[in-house]
Amino acid sequence: MKVVSVVGARPQLIKLAPIAAAFARTEHEHVIVHTGQHYDADLSDVFFSGLGIPDPDVHLGIGSGSHGVQTGKALAALDPVFMAEKPDWVLVYGDTNSTLAGAVSAVKLHLPVAHLEAGLRSFNRRMPEEHNRILTDHAADLLLAPTEEAMRHLAAEGLAERSVLAGDVMVDVCLGVRDAVLAGTHPAPALPEGVSPDEPYLLATLHRAENTDSPERLTALVDALANLPVPVALLAHPRLLAKAEEYGVKLARGALHVGRPLPYASMVAAVLGSTGVVTDSGGLQKEAYLLGRPCTTLRPETEWIETLVGDWNRLVPEPAALTPGEWADIATRPAPTTERGTPYGDGRAAERVVSILAQR
Ligand code: UD1
Repeated sequence: MKVVSVVGARPQLIKLAPIAAAFARTEHEHVIVHTGQHYDADLSDVFFSGLGIPDPDVHLGIGSGSHGVQTGKALAALDPVFMAEKPDWVLVYGDTNSTLAGAVSAVKLHLPVAHLEAGLRSFNRRMPEEHNRILTDHAADLLLAPTEEAMRHLAAEGLAERSVLAGDVMVDVCLGVRDAVLAGTHPAPALPEGVSPDEPYLLATLHRAENTDSPERLTALVDALANLPVPVALLAHPRLLAKAEEYGVKLARGALHVGRPLPYASMVAAVLGSTGVVTDSGGLQKEAYLLGRPCTTLRPETEWIETLVGDWNRLVPEPAALTPGEWADIATRPAPTTERGTPYGDGRAAERVVSILAQR
């Protein structure tokens, strides 16, 4: 079997790591195509080197642009790659513009497409990721769902016959890296200046278009983080830096200390070293949950609803609507004592994905 994986953005590289490792343990041929949607070393290269992913076989270098331009460029560049490779499966990951481009190019060339992390829904039609997920699921031949909830969403859209519960490959990579970090095989993470690993701190990220692309909303969220009573390590995505600059929003003030995005193992170590996480990232919500740190999510909804059980994750779309005391109490709440269970699977999802693809 020959499988072409299409990736382009940071969260896809994290999911690619356990899949590439699972393929490497088999005789199957695995070709990695990087669209180049993310090109900064912090968002791309460090994940290949840090997670031991083989270099991409093909790099399309599409870069940034509006949704149409970015998706269109990737689509046009993928056609000749797929025609040359003629894979048995095209495997697309998650919900970025690179995911959608991979699915559309493949389906139009009559190549079988599998979607990893299928069936997630926020039911927020303003999110670019929601468009990408729905369109990709409906284009794909095989839907590899991470959770029972994702399976229910797919069934509700008439896609049950194409869906398989595979588990979540992020568990594979997160728990493996956690064990290595706890065993002391990784150096301490580079926290932003002013944040001491020996004192309590919160770890924060903010990059979703819904949060960064309006001056009012970005100002309100940054104010809320800056006013917290403990140091906040803000690992700033380039989109956040670009928008803060454009709108004249100062990030480094009050409790806020700004640092660069971290490589994966450092991120896991930084979560483990923190007292909690404040974020709008999907992946980080789940990593906080898997690593046993309380998470506060700066969004009105989450695709990972399992994290909300037992107050491990709390949705706070408008911190400014709370009193400063209420907001601080939520963001700094201690880790719950409730059991988390294993709603995301057993950490062997990648192997399962490879064998499902081979069987079909
Ligand atoms: C993309 C995904 C989002 C995912 C996120 C993870 C889409 C629609 N969104 O959002 O689902 O959570 O990746 O990080 O695909 N930029 C750089 N260097 C880079 C990449 C981007 O400076 O290497 C800046 C540019 O200003 C660019 C902006 O970030 O315009 C946005 O990048 P883009 O890839 O369009 O979306 P993300 O916000 O990264």
